[in-house]
Order: sequence, then structure tokens, then C-alpha cells
Amino acid sequence: MDSFTGKLAVVTGGGSGMGGELVRQLAAAGCSVAAGDWHLDTVAQTVVSARAAARPGVLVTGHECDVSDEAQVLRFRDELLQQHSARHVDLVFANAGIGGGASFVTDSREEWERTFAVDFWGVYYCARTFLPLLIGSGDGVLVNTSSVNGLWASLGPGAPSTAYSTAKFAVRGFTEALIEDLRSNAPQVRVALVLPGHVGTDIIVNTRRAHGMPAPTEVSGQKLADARTWLTRAGLLDEGASDDDVRCRLAGLEHDFRDKAPLSAAEAVGIILDQVRAGAWRILVGEDAKLIDTRVRAKPEAAYDYAELFSGLAPTPAAESLPQDSQGR
Ligand SMILES: NC(=O)c1ccc[n+]([C@@H]2O[C@H](COP(=O)([O-])OP(=O)(O)OC[C@H]3O[C@@H](n4cnc5c(N)ncnc54)[C@H](O)[C@@H]3O)[C@@H](O)[C@H]2O)c1
Repeated sequence: MDSFTGKLAVVTGGGSGMGGELVRQLAAAGCSVAAGDWHLDTVAQTVVSARAAARPGVLVTGHECDVSDEAQVLRFRDELLQQHSARHVDLVFANAGIGGGASFVTDSREEWERTFAVDFWGVYYCARTFLPLLIGSGDGVLVNTSSVNGLWASLGPGAPSTAYSTAKFAVRGFTEALIEDLRSNAPQVRVALVLPGHVGTDIIVNTRRAHGMPAPTEVSGQKLADARTWLTRAGLLDEGASDDDVRCRLAGLEHDFRDKAPLSAAEAVGIILDQVRAGAWRILVGEDAKLIDTRVRAKPEAAYDYAELFSGLAPTPAAESLPQDSQGR
């Protein structure tokens, strides 16, 4: 596929961040898009901005869809086929995702399983639902978003990432396994795996809302104590800091994650779409993702010995400069 012009793409998580940028950049490239999100209001805003930038003849539609609920994914499919008068789709970006369930030990089972359900089952249900329509395209591409946490199951010292990493490793395994399956059984479809490092989006805020967590200014009790522990361990908080200092640091992380990232969502999506067009299957997004990929493959036994893993880097990365992900840790 050397051009998106005249194609029809499905994007999940189209209401924010990279999903919103995918919708806008695809529409600007002449591709019709059906954008889904579990927040209809945010995906509606994306649709307005994408239509403003779209080439003539492009149709952009917004749909309410929680990807962790297969019935909703099937309804999304039926709605978009009807609204686009289509019988197949050419591109599917299984992009929707949330953080959460950082600790298997201390976080709730409900939060852990919710995170896994969105991040893995969401991708799986999209593949189940849309593969026949991609086969119908004759030149279909399934693009699954994993993460640097699909390569490395930690966010650094004091910052576990268990549910998210488990799901993102699963997305990577599923996607890589599909390469040979599609080659053998559906060669008119190819699959690509997106492995972003830190990209400036509102994923921390959206994750908090998805799990019904309090805003940083409202954090108290055990959650405040947990935040104090990992912020201190990560070197992001002084010993003896007040409770308000902890809350302030948490609020700052939400903003900094979006505003001080090495790549904006628009830049990340520029890379993703260029690579999809070029036929790549393994799309590392950002220098941090490339660094982790190289280091973990070169020294697998040292993957969780941070000093050893990052040895030779000048300066030795402090926790703040280590690759961050959806939990901002
Ligand atoms: N931002 C990063 O640094 C980063 C790094 C690695 C991987 N990723 C991955 O990239 C993808 C996009 O993340 P982002 O940073 O743009 O986040 P974001 O929060 O800005 O956007 C994600 C969108 O997905 C939607 N969403 C969440 N759960 C959903 C569900 N169950 N059903 C439908 N929509 C749902 C949200 O409402 C939101 O609009 C995610 O899969 C994320 O895990 C992000």
C-alpha cells in the first residue's frame, strides 16, 4: 500500500492522542475514516477537526465503542459499513489503550483485569471482527499498537508495570504470530506492530478517568502513601516531602508526560503512517523505544538491572529520563 488515498480506515481510541492524530492525518491524506472511542464526545471533536482537514470526497465518521466489549466492536463494524456504504475496510488501527494495574501485588484485581481487557482483548476483538473485511479489501493492513512495554516489562526503578506490560507483550506476540498465519492463509492482508516510546498525550489523565481514580489533588490514604513510595524510590520526591508536595508532583507528572515528551502525538503518527506505507511490520516510535529495543536484545539477562542495562550512556539516565509510559512512571 503506497498511498492511503481512496482507502477506508478504522481507528480505535480516536478521541485523543495518537488515535485522534491518526484520524486527522489519514483524512488529510485522502483516506476515509471510521473512528471509534468509548467517549463519544471526544471522538466527535476529532471528527470535526478531521473533516476540516480532509481532502474532498473523504468521509469521516465517529462511533461509540468500548473495544473490550466484543458486542460493541461488532456494532461499530455494522454502523461503519452502513455509514460508509462499504463491504470491506483497508486499514485497521487497533490503537485504543489505557494504563493501570501497575502492581500485581498492591493494585486491585479489578483494575488489573480492566487494563488487560482493554489493552489485549480490545486488540483481539478488533482482529476477530475486522479480519474478514481486511481480506475483502484485497490489500488490507492490520496495525496493532503495543508499546515499549511490549519489549521491556518495567518502567524503571520503583515503577512496576504488570497489567500493561503483560497486555502489550501479548499484543506483540499475537501480532508477530499473525505474520506467518496471514502469509500462509490470508496473503492479501499484512500486519504491523507499533512500539511507541514516550509520546506526549493525555494517556495518564485518560487512564485515571478510565479507572475512576481521583485527580492528583484529591489523592489520599493508601494511594497517597503508594505514590509517595514510588516517587521517592524513583528519585522524583525528597524524603520528608509533605502530602501536598506529593499531590503537586503527581499533577506535574500528568502535564509533563504530555508537554515534555520527546515526540508529540502528531510526530509519532507521522512516523507510524510513513512506516505503514513503506510496508514495515515492526514500527519503533522514538529514540527511547529504539534504545530499549537495542539494549534489551543485546543484554537480555540485564533487562531489569537498570545500571547495567543503561551502562555507558552519558549521563547515566535518572528515573526522570528513563522511557516513560502510560502511568507516567
Ligand atoms: N503515549 C505514550 O507514551 C504511549 C507509549 C506506548 C504505547 N502507547 C499506546 O498508544 C495507544 C494510544 O495511546 P495515547 O497515548 O494516544 O493515549 P490517549 O489516552 O491520548 O488516547 C487513547 C484513546 O483510547 C480511548 N480508549 C481507552 N480505552 C478504550 C476502550 N476500552 N474502548 C475504546 N476507546 C478507548 C481513550 O478514550 C482515548 O481517546 C495506546 O494503546 C497506548 O497504550 C502510548
